[in-house]
Formats: sequence, structure tokens, C-alpha cells
Amino acid sequence: MATYDVIIIGAGPGGYVCAIRCAQLGLKTAVVEGRETLGGTCLNVGCIPSKALLHASHSLHEAQHNFAKMGLKGKSPSVDWKQMLTYKDEVVEGNTKGIEFLFKKNKIDWIKGWGSIPAAGQVKVGDDLHEAKNIIIATGSEPSELPGVTVDEKVVVTSTGALTLGKVPKRMVVIGAGVIGLELGSVYARLGAEVTVIEFLNEVTPGMDKDVQKILPRMLKKQGLKFIMGAAVQSTQATKTKAKLTYKLRKDDSEHVVEADVVLVATGRKPFTDGLGLKALGVTMSPRGQVQTGKDWQTNIKGIYAIGDAIDGPMLAHKAEDEGIAAAETVAGKHGHVNYGIIPGVIYTAPEIASVGATEQALKEAGHDYKVGKFQFMGNARAKTIFAGEGFVKILADKKTDRILGAHIVGPAAGELIHEICVAMEFGASAEDLAMTCHAHPTYSEAVREAAMACGDGPIHS
Ligand code: NAI
Repeated sequence: MATYDVIIIGAGPGGYVCAIRCAQLGLKTAVVEGRETLGGTCLNVGCIPSKALLHASHSLHEAQHNFAKMGLKGKSPSVDWKQMLTYKDEVVEGNTKGIEFLFKKNKIDWIKGWGSIPAAGQVKVGDDLHEAKNIIIATGSEPSELPGVTVDEKVVVTSTGALTLGKVPKRMVVIGAGVIGLELGSVYARLGAEVTVIEFLNEVTPGMDKDVQKILPRMLKKQGLKFIMGAAVQSTQATKTKAKLTYKLRKDDSEHVVEADVVLVATGRKPFTDGLGLKALGVTMSPRGQVQTGKDWQTNIKGIYAIGDAIDGPMLAHKAEDEGIAAAETVAGKHGHVNYGIIPGVIYTAPEIASVGATEQALKEAGHDYKVGKFQFMGNARAKTIFAGEGFVKILADKKTDRILGAHIVGPAAGELIHEICVAMEFGASAEDLAMTCHAHPTYSEAVREAAMACGDGPIHS
């Protein structure tokens, strides 16, 4: 029986990052992972493969819609789906191998198999029992089920099946206008599918800033996506090649049926903690099935910690990574810290959506005295060169102190631009600090500066 300082269960972004930091801090570390490859959902069947398809489909869109405008002529490319999937798989493989290399480099043991915790200080994998002073649960999440909808991962799929479809569907119905639904829905729309998004609420991406919720469906409709809002999905009936989906419009209770070659269920995810033995151990769980932890990521059982999607908070890879580092530091006797107020969120549609901190409606509801600085990408010369003049940067700042409280960006490279604001917020900056910082011309980042200027004396280019 091997004895470790730390055993981490799960090698997703939370778990593998935690393991590397533990090893760097001198702890003898092992990771239990049952998948054939490291990297968890994000790397194997989530963030990374979807970005490969996003890049490929965006390139196709550019060729179809913008090449001729720039004087690039010739036959427009067509989709070789098999090759696109190979490209995606190669991207994934390169990354999973990279983590294996990092494990070897940092002398982290990979215990292959599914782990359970029979008692504090013990992790069981198959018939083997391993001892550890500290155990960190980083088991992530899985798609939530929808009553009346049976997932077969071929015709009725979750995001996992959506990344390995046999062909590009002619008609795709997406249930849920959240992050996954809009990202993957827009990928398939660009590849030629007729995509209809069915959403229970009357707005997309719940919880995001209202201005984002307003512009996003408008832009996606231009890309061919259709939206059925305020609709409750009742059931799906699938054959081997297509599905019928029944939904009720909430405004008048009328029942409707749509047919599709593929139905993507994207109605949220839930913590994945089955088989760990947490109930028998007496680990406190929240009513939503999350592992409950204290400020130090420790559960009610001493020496058992939890991070990432398995606990409270946004289900985001980078939140899990930050918690992984902080938990490693805590276990090593240091002071791990995560600033939960400054965790950016990015939706990888084209253009991208990014946000951090408070939304305008949250500030309103809290009675906070705030001001808004908004700048449209239409006034940004660099964005116009790539036909990306739609969208904006919106900065929310405290009315009295000018301190930045939040930001919301719709536009080119929004997922990169947001970090300038994250750093500013981390340093407690005011909008004026950002406005006074010289920004290179011509860059998309100038739009961030102009939005900051809009919190003060006004932007230049609008
Ligand atoms: P989500 O919570 O973002 O969106 C789910 C949507 O489904 C909501 O708009 C909800 O109102 C709707 N919905 C729920 N029940 C419904 C029903 N019966 N009929 C119609 N609509 C219904 O969940 P999603 O997109 O599945 O993503 C899951 C998690 O993964 C999220 O926490 C997300 O943050 C994370 N994720 C993050 C990504 C990113 O940061 N880029 C990418 C992919 C996933």
C-alpha cells in the first residue's frame, strides 16, 4: 500500500492543476483517474474539442462570407467532417499527452481507475487501498437529465455526443439557450445545419447582463439560428436517425412538435460524486447535491477537501483551477485564496461574450450608486478591418469612487480583452486608471479604454 501526502480524485482542470501545485510544494502526490486520458471533461469532451470545431467552423464562415470582400477569390471550402473530427481529436490528444508529461516531470503518480473513499485517509481503487494524509475530491460534473428526454448520445445528445456526431445534421434542435447550447448551436449553424434553440425562459444566458442578453440572440439570428423562447420541453421520441420533440409554449400552454436529426440537451450540469462513498462517510452535501466545504475547501471530515464543479459556484474550468491551486496551498500549510468576485465568464460564440463582476441589474437590485461607460466596436478601427463592428464594451463603476465593479464585452477577442479588466479590478483600479493607461493603436483593446473613458469625460470615437 502506497502512502501519499495528497491523493486527488479526478484529473480535470481542477484536479490536475491541484496535483501539479501540490508536487511543486513538495507533497507526495497521486491522482486517481478512471478515463483513459487525463484532462477531464474540459479537455476530453468539453472546452478544448469544442474550441477546435469552433475554429474550423469560424474559418469556414470567414471563407464563405468575408474572403471575397477582401479580394480573396476561389472555390469556397466544403466540410470534410471526418477530417474535422480528426483535427479535433489530435488537438485533444496533444493536450492530454501534455498533462501526462507534466505528471511525469513533477513525479505525480497516476492511479488508473475509479476511486472511492472508504474512510478518511484512504482511497480505494479497484482492489487496492491507498493511504493519504489529505484527499481532494475533484470529480467534476455531468449533464443534468431532463424528464421525458432520453439521451442516446447519437440522436439525442449531450455536449459529449455533440462532439462526435456521425455527420453534420441537417436540422438540429438545441434545448437550452445557455453557454453550451449557444456555443455548439452556432458551430453547427456555421457548418450548415438549421439550428433551432428552445429555451424555457424568455431570455438567453440567464444571469448575464441585460445588454448582452439583448444583443446576443439578435447576432445569432443573423447567423441563421432560430429561437423559440418561453417553451417547456415535454418529451423527445427518437428513432435511429431522427427525433420528434414536443414542447409547450408557456404563454398559452399550446403544444408544438419539431423534428430534428439531432437534439442537443444543454440544460445545465450537476456535480458528479456517485460512487465516492460520501454518504457512508457522512460528508455534508448541499440540497443541490454539491459537496459542502468551508473557506479552506475542507469538508466536514478532516483531511477531505473538494474543489471545482463538485462544490458550489460557477461550473468553470478556471474556477476549478484556481481552487485547485488554493487547496494545494492550504494542504501545504500556506494560505490559499480565490477571489470569487473576479472570475471571468466567456461564451465562445462568434463574436465572443465575456463578463466579470457585477451585472447592471445586480447593482440596480442592490441599490448601488453606479455609472455605465459603454463603447461600441463600430468606433474601433481594428474591429472594422475584420468586419466585427457589432458589439460593445460596457464598464460599470461606482458613481462616487469610480472603482470598477464589473464589465461585459460582446465583440472580437472579448475572451482575451476581459482580462485587462480582471487585472484592473484585482488591483482595485478606477475606470480613470484604465482610461489613463496608454493602449496601442490599432487594437481591439482600445475599445476597453474608450469604455473606461465613457465612465468619465467621454470616449473619443463615438
Ligand atoms: P446553462 O446553465 O448555461 O444553460 C442552461 C439553459 O437551459 C438555461 O438557459 C436554462 O434556462 C435552460 N433550460 C433549463 N431547463 C430547460 C428546459 N426544460 N427547456 C428549455 N430550456 C431549459 O447550462 P449549459 O449550457 O448546459 O452549461 C452547463 C455548465 O457548463 C454551465 O455551468 C456552464 O457555465 C458550463 N460551461 C461553460 C462554458 C464556458 O465557460 N464557455 C462552456 C460550456 C459549459
